Amino acid sequence: MIEKTLVLLKPDAVERNLIGHILVEYERNGLSVLELKLMKASSTLAEQHYIEHKGKPFFDRLVAYLTRSPLVALVLEGENAISRVRALNGTTDPADSQDNTIRALYGKSMSENTVHASDSTESAEREREIWFG
Ligand code: TYD
Ligand code: MG
Repeated sequence: MIEKTLVLLKPDAVERNLIGHILVEYERNGLSVLELKLMKASSTLAEQHYIEHKGKPFFDRLVAYLTRSPLVALVLEGENAISRVRALNGTTDPADSQDNTIRALYGKSMSENTVHASDSTESAEREREIWFG
């Protein structure tokens, strides 16, 4: 099934000049870039994006991180893109991520884990609307 998924190269990725390094991982795996922009996210946008985590102890830090400097928002398309991009990214905590996943290669910590990808068809639709709607 051909799917579209929403990906963020979070501020720590842009700050460390990792945009190209990360995009190459997706493109080498047959995923195509449909949309792409560099932007500084507002707190409103970041809070909307992470609404499922509102009220959790890490929420305010997460919003501060996402808004502190520009990020890259993109839509990737490909066969089973949603689960494949999640697999390429690795687990939430880079310390647990399998070798060669993007978070294992580049993630700094649980709270600065470099990339985001939608986790379901519903999230992908919701998040694409938020960032590109
Ligand atoms: P989550 O949606 O659980 O992870 P994923 O990004 O893999 O879908 O959490 C969203 C982000 O919140 C996660 O990328 C990093 C941050 N986070 C923390 O800082 N501490 C935590 O305990 C959790 C669960 C997440
Ligand atoms: Mg998530």
